[in-house]
Amino acid sequence: MSDVNALFEAARAVREKAYAPYSNFLVGAALRTPDGNVFTGCNVENASYPVSVCAEGGAVSAMIAAGQRQIAEAVVIGDAALCTPCGMCRQRLKEFGTDDLIVHVADLNGIRRSFTIDELLPAAFELEDKKD
Ligand code: THU
Repeated sequence: MSDVNALFEAARAVREKAYAPYSNFLVGAALRTPDGNVFTGCNVENASYPVSVCAEGGAVSAMIAAGQRQIAEAVVIGDAALCTPCGMCRQRLKEFGTDDLIVHVADLNGIRRSFTIDELLPAAFELEDKKD
């Protein structure tokens, strides 16, 4: 299985674990670090809606908790044709993305579109001394 297919399968599997009783919109995210580690997350909603966490947020937290800081490739999967990351998650991914981070957007049948992080978030806000 190629790297991107493995990432797709990881995102599809974690999507099944999502807790989304309010929107009924399940999302999974899988991130690959430059050295090949994979971290996953799913959306977790809350009765107080703004408390909810996106799938990408969960995956980034898992990566950081494991001591990793860089994302080379990501897959986000929803059940709609094009579940592109929300604005907040674009900023989240940018913070830890390599310069050439690719974000693949998938539905249940496979990857539908692929974007560079700069396509998703042009002219991003960044601080010089981030990351280390
Ligand atoms: N959601 C994500 O988890 N990631 C995205 O990229 C888009 C939206 C979640 C948030 C909420 O739980 C549900 O999808 C509906 O908006």
